[in-house]
Formats: sequence, C-alpha cells, structure tokens
Amino acid sequence: MRLDRFLANLPCYNRQQVRLLLVQRRVRVDGEAVADPLHEVREFSRVEVDEQVLQAGRPARYLMLNKPAGCVSATSDPQHPTVLDLLPAELRDDLHIAGRLDYNTTGLLILTNDGQWSRRLTQPRTKLAKLYLVQTEDEIGAHYVDKFREGFYFAFEDLTTLPAQLDILGPRSARLAIVEGRYHQVKRMFGHFDNKVMGLHRERMGSIGLDPTLAPGHYRELTAEEVASV
Ligand code: URA
Repeated sequence: MRLDRFLANLPCYNRQQVRLLLVQRRVRVDGEAVADPLHEVREFSRVEVDEQVLQAGRPARYLMLNKPAGCVSATSDPQHPTVLDLLPAELRDDLHIAGRLDYNTTGLLILTNDGQWSRRLTQPRTKLAKLYLVQTEDEIGAHYVDKFREGFYFAFEDLTTLPAQLDILGPRSARLAIVEGRYHQVKRMFGHFDNKVMGLHRERMGSIGLDPTLAPGHYRELTAEEVASV
C-alpha cells in the first residue's frame, strides 16, 4: 500500500495531517525518513512517526531447501513427513511453498512468507524458467522436442501448456525448462508419450539455482541478490 494511504487509514491522522507529516519528514520507513507519499509500505515494513511505532513490521524470509525424496510439499500432512519438518521450529511459522514438488521429486524448493514475491516466481506470465532433470523409463525420441515446444493439451484445466524446451541428454535423460507449474506437469507431459518419469530433480527457478553445497534435506537463506533477481 502507498505510504499516504497507509497513514490516512489510521484513526489518528487525516489526509491533511498526513501531507504535513511527510513534508516535515517525520515519517520513517525501515529507519529511513520518507517524504514520498507513493513509497510502498508492506507487512514487512517498520513504520514510525517521530518516536511512535505505527507498524513493527516482521522479517521477510526466503529459504531454499534441497528437497529429498519421500516428503510432501505441504505445511502439514497426516501421514508423511513434510518439508517443513526439515526446518527448525522457529522458522516454520508463516512460510509457504513457492512451487510445490511431488513426494518423490527432489531438488530446489523455495519457501517464503512473502506472497507477492512468490507469485512473481511462480506465475506463468513472468516467464521464469523452472529447470528439471528428468529420467524416464523408456527412450526419449527426438520427436519429443517439437511437441514440448508446441505444447500439450491438458483436458482437466482445458489449456495448452506454454512452449517448453527439452534438451535430450541421453537415451533416458533430459533437461526440461518450463515456465508453468501445473499439477504433475512434467509427468503428464511425458505421459503423453506413455513414457514414465522415474526420476525428477529441480535444478533452478529463474536465476536461483540449487546450491550445490546443500545436501538433501538441508536449507539456507537466499542471498539478497537471489531475492532481488525475482
Ligand atoms: N512436475 C511434476 O510432474 N512433478 C513435480 O514434482 C514437478 C513438476
């Protein structure tokens, strides 16, 4: 929300008082004096007027986890361990998953409490490529490449998948770049050829690559550059 609206929505200030506070540079956001009425205030921002704290803000969290096989991408599950079980209790609170992976899929999983940011990462229209290493049961034919580029019709959603790039690495292995994250998308794409996905590993989302030093089940915070890249 813009700063002037944030302030005017509070019971203590009317619009004229807000204008004055800003001109007098009495408003601080995250410790910096701000005079711009359009300055963006988020739930993570700390907002003060003089010495009074109007919103304490809360830390924005961005984590990458090397997801092992055998756990679900959910915040709770009655049967199976979840990816949140791999994090210390004090970090779990308000995190959500930006782009789920199936139970046996491994690799890069990003967790955050910043919904605006995670939407940018996962929405197809931002066109951030998600890179997967795929192992299949049967041989991958050269004709697959065009079909992945053309798209697959998914009857359940009544849509055709956006162009995807398939690079064949070996008889039964390929690297796939997709910009969407439809339910079981990769498995359904290969399913079109009746070719079962035996192994699936996410290497990258946009410019955020899985840290090669992270062992399966381990996590780290994203760097400021990684967060800013989305
Ligand atoms: N596509 C799938 O089919 N499964 C995943 O876990 C991720 C993408």
